[in-house]
Amino acid sequence: MGDFSERALGIQPTGVRKMFDLAGDDVISFGLGEPDFQPPPIAIEAFHQAMLDGKNKYTTTAGLPALRTKIAESWASYQSGLDESNVCITMSGTNALLNLFLTLVNPGDNVLLPEPYFPLYGPDVSIAGGTATYYPCQFENEFIPLVSDLEARVDERTVAILYNFPSNPTGGTLDLQQRDELLAFAKKHNLWIISDEVYDRIVFDGPHVSFMGAGYDRVLVVNSFSKTFAMTGWRMGYIISEHAEAMQQVIKMQYYIAACSNDAMQHAILATMEHASDYPDHIAAEFKARRDLIVSRLNAMKGVECHKPQGAIYVFPKVTVPGMDSQALAMALLKDGVLCSPGSAFGPSGEGHLRFAYTISQEDISRGMDKVEATLNRLLG
Ligand SMILES: Cc1ncc(COP(=O)(O)O)c(C=O)c1O
Repeated sequence: MGDFSERALGIQPTGVRKMFDLAGDDVISFGLGEPDFQPPPIAIEAFHQAMLDGKNKYTTTAGLPALRTKIAESWASYQSGLDESNVCITMSGTNALLNLFLTLVNPGDNVLLPEPYFPLYGPDVSIAGGTATYYPCQFENEFIPLVSDLEARVDERTVAILYNFPSNPTGGTLDLQQRDELLAFAKKHNLWIISDEVYDRIVFDGPHVSFMGAGYDRVLVVNSFSKTFAMTGWRMGYIISEHAEAMQQVIKMQYYIAACSNDAMQHAILATMEHASDYPDHIAAEFKARRDLIVSRLNAMKGVECHKPQGAIYVFPKVTVPGMDSQALAMALLKDGVLCSPGSAFGPSGEGHLRFAYTISQEDISRGMDKVEATLNRLLG
């Protein structure tokens, strides 16, 4: 017998982190998907005050009722009738995802995952003992999956499908018709939908389209305060679902993962939702300006084709330099002072792409794009 579990040995560090670890301090970083803003001041003040007020204890596993009620209310425009029983506070979206795979997947079960993907999904499924089957989200189709591709991959062991819109890494977002088609597929096969909507408030050209409230109750939405309130380091998120029995199982599982979430931070997030609920709109406006800038710069470069994403904080252009794969290209850019992620870090179909997180100022985006342009001009002769 080996010293370590097959579970541990079977998972690998992600490619995004590997590039980040190679980079020095002086690079222009389009690497990690971390907003460059600070949380709204009220969040920090309320956190401090909550600690001073003695909110330093365990809370109930699912979280403070007042916060859960506030979150349920924030979903009322999608789905009526939600209350605190429909919400479980988690210690990040990452925690929420693991909880859901552990709650829904039996060893040997199959889960449909997007590809290119957020790199945690596959290892999470494998930690839960399941098998991941990837469905393509292709550049040619604006990164929206085709139902025919889903039908070709579903089998009698498939229990769940994960959708992620707005998407990391592609920025793909759904319109209502696309959402309804993807929902009908899941309904037909009686699958759970795990809908990762952590970028729900960072959308640019129309309202967010959710799987919540679309007429199917086997939907569990993962959300997070990390990106929308620029508090990646706080590690706060939640699961919301109208499915009462699923929520009971989720909350039971959460106890064994973390007992409960951080007391003082839950109070701080409640204050933030009460007094700075429009904060995500301000950062979304800035991200939109950055998106416009980076997309127009990229599309003016040799060898580059870039969609204009409607949400999230990433572009995922096709970048073609004969004889170089995306890893080699990302390394060449790093040598010239720009950190980005090779598309292959997000699955095989990400090959031929690079991911740029536009989580730096417009000035730095311009300087970074000057460097990318110079590198491509050199490589393409
Ligand atoms: C699509 C997606 N889901 C979930 C997460 C996890 O976010 P957190 O664990 O910070 O809440 C991220 C973070 O990058 C993400 O991009």
